[in-house]
Amino acid sequence: MIESFVLAIAALSGCWCDTVPTFVGEIEVRNPAYVSLYAYPGYNSGYDLLISTSSGNPFEKDVVYRVSHIEEYMKNNATNFTLEVLSDSIYWPNQLSGVSKVFGNRTVAVASGNFAPKNRGGVSLINLDKGAPYITDVITDGYAKGQLVWLENQGNLNQSTPWKSHVIAEGPDVNFVSSRLQSTDGWMDAFFAAQYFNPGLRVFWVNESGDWNETKVNSRDIDMTIGPVFDVVISDVNGDFESDLLVTAHSATNGTVWAYEIPDDFRTGEYKRHLLASGFMSSSVHQGKGAPGSARPISHGTASGKDPIILSGDDSGQAYVLNARSNAKDDWSYTVTPFLDAGTGNVGGIDFAGGVYSYNSYDIFVPAKNKNKVYIYRLMEN
Ligand SMILES: *[C@@H]1O[C@H](CO)[C@@H](O)[C@H](O)[C@H]1NC(C)=O
Ligand SMILES: *[C@@H]1O[C@H](CO)[C@@H](O)[C@H](O)[C@H]1NC(C)=O
Ligand SMILES: *[C@@H]1O[C@H](CO)[C@@H](O)[C@H](O)[C@H]1NC(C)=O
Ligand SMILES: *[C@@H]1O[C@H](CO)[C@@H](O)[C@H](O)[C@H]1NC(C)=O
Ligand SMILES: *[C@@H]1O[C@H](CO)[C@@H](O)[C@H](O)[C@H]1NC(C)=O
Ligand SMILES: *[C@@H]1O[C@H](CO)[C@@H](O)[C@H](O)[C@H]1NC(C)=O
Ligand SMILES: *[C@@H]1O[C@H](CO)[C@@H](O)[C@H](O)[C@H]1NC(C)=O
Repeated sequence: MIESFVLAIAALSGCWCDTVPTFVGEIEVRNPAYVSLYAYPGYNSGYDLLISTSSGNPFEKDVVYRVSHIEEYMKNNATNFTLEVLSDSIYWPNQLSGVSKVFGNRTVAVASGNFAPKNRGGVSLINLDKGAPYITDVITDGYAKGQLVWLENQGNLNQSTPWKSHVIAEGPDVNFVSSRLQSTDGWMDAFFAAQYFNPGLRVFWVNESGDWNETKVNSRDIDMTIGPVFDVVISDVNGDFESDLLVTAHSATNGTVWAYEIPDDFRTGEYKRHLLASGFMSSSVHQGKGAPGSARPISHGTASGKDPIILSGDDSGQAYVLNARSNAKDDWSYTVTPFLDAGTGNVGGIDFAGGVYSYNSYDIFVPAKNKNKVYIYRLMEN
């Protein structure tokens, strides 16, 4: 009784102040590009770590791997990882994520194609629940420019008949996030798009829930002045219990991280903008190189205060943690601390999860392509 009381107090008073991830291990794998943790159903049932790799040659097929039950390795000594090949037949796989329940089985969706829009892209589904994992289907034959496309599931899981694609909007390219947002006319289906090749941050929505016919889509520019936008996520950045946008913009010389307050009516109100960090730069001078990559807040669970933010450097070759300087709602300043320096290489899509090692820790998986390693770091509540 007394013990659990003390534990509860400790959990509530934990904080993320000044926490910097510490190195705990590494996974050797050729050319890792993105990682994703895919939870097993049920509370505390563990995770698969999914890893996409890319050689950089668009005509060469690359490998997608899984490390089953990564938590078992983390609870032991974080060595001797067993990598299982999920697919070796996708050209340039990049972002990947678990999409369980959609098909009744644990399924991984893998986006593929070169970052440059001239290259055709696709989406593949890998079913993990069959005896051996295999690609169920390639669900589209590609989209060749910045467009948001709806791939209609017509009930076929058949490689030779790609899903029907419908263009929803022109412009969106690298990343977007969907949501239901409040307006003076009620809740609406919407998404925020990070536009890279048509640089800007925009919002798209429909007046009738679920009706994403292209003729019904409304859009609004939020900010077209910050350069190529790399990523956007929705998060309560300043801890005032209101959702904000956490946004990164790519640059070879001065990449930036921003927060935008989502107004009461997302269609008409003002998105107040705050600069969280700037000065990120590519470690090598090549066309198309830039920094930073994606920013992801660590939802603090039991700890008090603002969420720390894990930032991928992309072509800066680094990974960073951003810690709020104060818990004041109107103070948007952060310290920026690099915790990994992979030299002139690329640090790709990072993922992390709590409870992999212990209830008050986050394990962070950082793919460093040129080092042929996924580095593993841990952030402990203090
Ligand atoms: C820890 O790693 C070493 C190899 O580096 C291995 O021999 C040993 O069995 C591992 N221990 C556990 C508990 O996994
Ligand atoms: C590494 O893992 C493999 C397969 O799980 C096992 O056979 C081998 O004994 C392990 N090696 C060490 C050094 O732990
Ligand atoms: C799920 O996987 C099982 C094999 O484990 C298979 O029999 C079943 O058809 C799969 N379901 C779907 C919807 O693909
Ligand atoms: C896939 O679709 C093609 C063409 O519609 C058809 O000939 C083939 O039998 C289908 N394969 C399966 C496994 O359903
Ligand atoms: C979208 O709406 C237009 C105009 O109402 C209609 O002609 C078109 O068939 C619709 N498209 C789809 C995919 O439903
Ligand atoms: C959505 O509703 C607004 C009025 O609330 C209207 O101005 C707009 O034209 C509508 N959009 C479409 C695509 O019908
Ligand atoms: C980088 O960009 C930010 C945001 O626009 C700006 O405040 C800052 O002065 C710039 N830094 C340099 C060195 O140009």
